[in-house]
Amino acid sequence: MTGKEQTLSTQKKAPPLARQVIWLTGASSGIGEALARALASRCQQLIITARNYKALEAISKDFSNVTVLAADVTKISELHHAATEIQNRFGRIDTLIANAGTCEYLDIDQFDAELIKRVMQTNFFGLVNSIEAALPLLQQSQRGYIAGMSSSVTALAMPRAEAYGASKAATLHFLQSLKADLTASGIDVSAISPGFVKTPLTDRNDFAMPAMISAEQAAQEIIRGLNRRHFDIHFPKRFTRVLRLLGLLPDWLRFRLTAAMSRSKHSDPINQNNSTFPENRK
Ligand SMILES: NC(=O)c1ccc[n+]([C@@H]2O[C@H](COP(=O)([O-])OP(=O)(O)OC[C@H]3O[C@@H](n4cnc5c(N)ncnc54)[C@H](OP(=O)(O)O)[C@@H]3O)[C@@H](O)[C@H]2O)c1
Repeated sequence: MTGKEQTLSTQKKAPPLARQVIWLTGASSGIGEALARALASRCQQLIITARNYKALEAISKDFSNVTVLAADVTKISELHHAATEIQNRFGRIDTLIANAGTCEYLDIDQFDAELIKRVMQTNFFGLVNSIEAALPLLQQSQRGYIAGMSSSVTALAMPRAEAYGASKAATLHFLQSLKADLTASGIDVSAISPGFVKTPLTDRNDFAMPAMISAEQAAQEIIRGLNRRHFDIHFPKRFTRVLRLLGLLPDWLRFRLTAAMSRSKHSDPINQNNSTFPENRK
């Protein structure tokens, strides 16, 4: 047996949810709120983070094992402060769920590098900041676990998704490399890639969203995925599988398809939000 095989075979088993201390970011609304409510009754301790303190407090009032630590994920000092609090109160984190995120779409007629930086700051660097703050505490776990929020949008590069899609693709790649580097130290890593989920984020969309599920259904899918600890947590499969197949089309056909989606937006000034795909319009 090689040294690496020995390390892997002696890794400890993941603790059941009931014995876990879980840190969840982006818990004040949407998927994060539904996940917070579903996890609180299943885990030992849940720490919830977002900027909206009042919304977090309203969730924590319903449970005795939920701690509110408000923080902006784009401000690493706030996350380190939260991590110090977790260290003092609980001494470890078993699972970090880096869920906080935002969505803005690019209008190609008004190219806006600041918009792209804003989305990257929250979705990608916010996740990176959360991991930096949590990593020393994850190393105190019997077997730590990082689940980061990506999106099904990474399967197919859509028009107007330059910022959002790039932030989620960067997240996916980052988590894949992280998994490779953390395997030997016994910390598991997953990427969560939902299709459409009904939340304040998608409520801003004024178009049909195929196979959309509720935030509560998404929370159940995520908990199922967390229990399995497979890298790729994607749902609903009837949607994500189709999108992934489209992403496998040869370049000439795939770009013809996505350019047609972009052109259809430009050729219809009355209804500019007519794309069929997720997170792709205002
Ligand atoms: N809904 C979908 O169809 C869908 C599909 C694929 C992936 N996702 C991803 O799922 C995650 C949750 O989205 P959602 O649909 O549930 O949207 P949402 O209801 O708008 O929730 C976003 C959460 O992120 C938090 N957040 C945003 N910026 C933050 C910041 N700078 N610091 C700390 N927290 C911040 C928000 O809290 P505060 O505003 O209080 O800070 C809120 O709790 C996102 O990463 C999103 O990209 C969603």
